[in-house]
Amino acid sequence: MSRLPACSKTLSRLPPYLFVKLNAVKEEARKRGHTLIDLGMGNPDRPTPVHVVDALCDAVRSDPATHRYPTTKGSQELRKAIAGWYFRRFGVTLDSETEVLPLVGSKEGLAHLFFAYLEPSDVALVPSPCYPVHYNGTLLTGAKVHLMPLTEENGFLPEFSAIPASVAKKAKVLVLNYPNNPTGAVLKDPRLFERAIAFSKKHGAIVVHDNPYSEITFERYCAPSFLQVPGAKERGVEFHSFSKSYSMAGWRVAFVVGNAEIIANLGKFKSFLDYGIPGFVQAAATVALNSSQDYVLQMREIYMQRRDTLVAALIKAGWPVEAPRATMYLWARLPEPFRKAGSFAFCESLLLEEGVALAPGVGFGPHGEGYVRFAFVDDERKIEEAVERIARFLKNARPGGKRPARAGRTLLPTDL
Ligand SMILES: Cc1ncc(COP(=O)(O)O)c(C=O)c1O
Repeated sequence: MSRLPACSKTLSRLPPYLFVKLNAVKEEARKRGHTLIDLGMGNPDRPTPVHVVDALCDAVRSDPATHRYPTTKGSQELRKAIAGWYFRRFGVTLDSETEVLPLVGSKEGLAHLFFAYLEPSDVALVPSPCYPVHYNGTLLTGAKVHLMPLTEENGFLPEFSAIPASVAKKAKVLVLNYPNNPTGAVLKDPRLFERAIAFSKKHGAIVVHDNPYSEITFERYCAPSFLQVPGAKERGVEFHSFSKSYSMAGWRVAFVVGNAEIIANLGKFKSFLDYGIPGFVQAAATVALNSSQDYVLQMREIYMQRRDTLVAALIKAGWPVEAPRATMYLWARLPEPFRKAGSFAFCESLLLEEGVALAPGVGFGPHGEGYVRFAFVDDERKIEEAVERIARFLKNARPGGKRPARAGRTLLPTDL
């Protein structure tokens, strides 16, 4: 019998998705008898607001039209609700016919936008560290990826002036994400967006701003929209998601707004691949945007308390960290003795020894090496217990000692 053909070269160049790899280690930790505390993936643990769940149930029960194929473009009600929310929240006016497109999650939308725009001769400008889909999604198109380092020294902001002219010339997509995953960095003013627009005008790349954490902000910080900056709509788009704002990660619903031409191209691409979001999910998402936003305020409060608990416990355990002003993530530099072995080895050992899952920084790109990401997606009691276990691990572990620590590996291959 002849062998099955191999998958495409582009696909085989990608390592398994970070969280898939970590799941295998979690399985092993469970087999060793640990009750896991999972602060690895940014998977909101709070239930979706009750009125949104009710809206889905009503729609699926009383409106059989929602059982039929939806359209890629999304319902007019949802598109109008998105435009209305954008105006109320950011003061940005959108044409709900041409400047708004609902998505089956922003992961889907981002990946398809990259396919709609990139070819092997093109370059995508992607931050490092980044949400892995920014990197892997662009790489899957066959395009080259040029990484823009985000470091503590540069305030986790990319420096466009460091991009070589030969790369800038070929750049077709420029990806940004603030509040940032995984670093938790926020923008204090619109200057980065202004520089991105100027770069785009000079070199021709479209700006893709990924903004799923705009509602998860603390104290008095209020996250901006890229589209608030003059000229933004001429040069790019912004992605938003219901996953984090309304704890709807499993519902798979998000949207992209901004430049009509880019949105039309993404809509055309998607029309060949998917039918859009189930009608009853769209009906519920419409209610989420059009009704009271009290849930968002409560959720912010909950995440902030968890953040404070985590920061205080880590500092007490001798691990100095800084509290982020947004997102559900704490980006922490590995304690010195563990840096040589690398973040994946640290997370693997911590899981196997103590049953605590964190995300290794290297999984977000080479510049993430030396860090781990805590996601505060469990209650305060569990967070405290996780840090107690971590404190024990730090005390007992002998980095570089007898236990074979695997060398730090770059899970995201660097091509350019
Ligand atoms: C920066 C960023 N963009 C997009 C996503 C995916 O969002 P969605 O659930 O809408 O696909 C995530 C999820 O963690 C994220 O961190």
